[in-house]
Amino acid sequence: MTDSLRLAVFGDPISHSLSPRIHSLFGQQLGLAVDYQAIRCTVQELPQRLEELVRAGGTGANLTLPLKQAGLRLCRQLDLPARLARAVNTLSLDEQGWRGFNTDGPGLVLDLERLGIRLGGTRILIIGAGGATAGILAPLLERRPACITLLNRTAERATLLAERYGHLGQILGLGLDAEPQGPPHDLLIQATSLGHAGAMPVIADDWLDQEARVYDLNYGPAHEPVARWAESRGLAAHDGIGMLVGQAALAFEIWSGQRPSISATLAELPRLAIS
Ligand code: ATR
Repeated sequence: MTDSLRLAVFGDPISHSLSPRIHSLFGQQLGLAVDYQAIRCTVQELPQRLEELVRAGGTGANLTLPLKQAGLRLCRQLDLPARLARAVNTLSLDEQGWRGFNTDGPGLVLDLERLGIRLGGTRILIIGAGGATAGILAPLLERRPACITLLNRTAERATLLAERYGHLGQILGLGLDAEPQGPPHDLLIQATSLGHAGAMPVIADDWLDQEARVYDLNYGPAHEPVARWAESRGLAAHDGIGMLVGQAALAFEIWSGQRPSISATLAELPRLAIS
């Protein structure tokens, strides 16, 4: 088993990334020397940057925006979440080349478990039908929720995703202005980018049960609108920092064979502002 790892995250923008800090905490936790750099990189530059990483002794990488689709083409093998999401966030090198993984959705599921949020038999409401949602649908549906209702400003994107994932479970795609149907939902997952503009999508109260849990994929200041909205309704809200650490922990396990503790890492990670 290795006792040192050279790793990197590629993306653009990348300077705000918390990943170097998270992976260095993982290294400390597990007694491994971790050199994890954040490297700015465009889609065109990605093959070259990965080659440079390998020449420097690198064996693993994370990809973030806008590289998650571009990374697919560079992998000789993909795990099921990456194939279904059509995006990779983790690359791991072996003798034949890069293997690609998507740990975003599994990282969310891990964090929901940490928070004691049950998924089996649960009615889930997701707002937003962009790349973030595409990455989480398959791992959520694998846990057999009663249903997923997907609401999006652009109804067509929600219906397209619902069609794409419909073979995995009960999922309905609707416009944000749709009338609530059926019993209220037990879990709201906020997956729009609206928090970065200081706002939160308007959703009818009837969509949600009075005891519903709220999970926002955003963290830092972008989570504040959801936190305020949930508090005003007496609902428990969680930010997405645990998902960030969860997806990182699963990537680290792929590279090192050891899974770091999410809770111990969260305890040490200051809630840094993300711009
Ligand atoms: P990501 O990859 O982070 O999911 P994205 O693909 O750009 O980013 O998607 C952003 C999501 O936020 C989409 O669901 C988007 O709705 P549209 O599909 O209608 O664009 C949603 N979103 C962004 N701005 C919004 C706004 N002002 N009101 C409602 N939803 C918004």
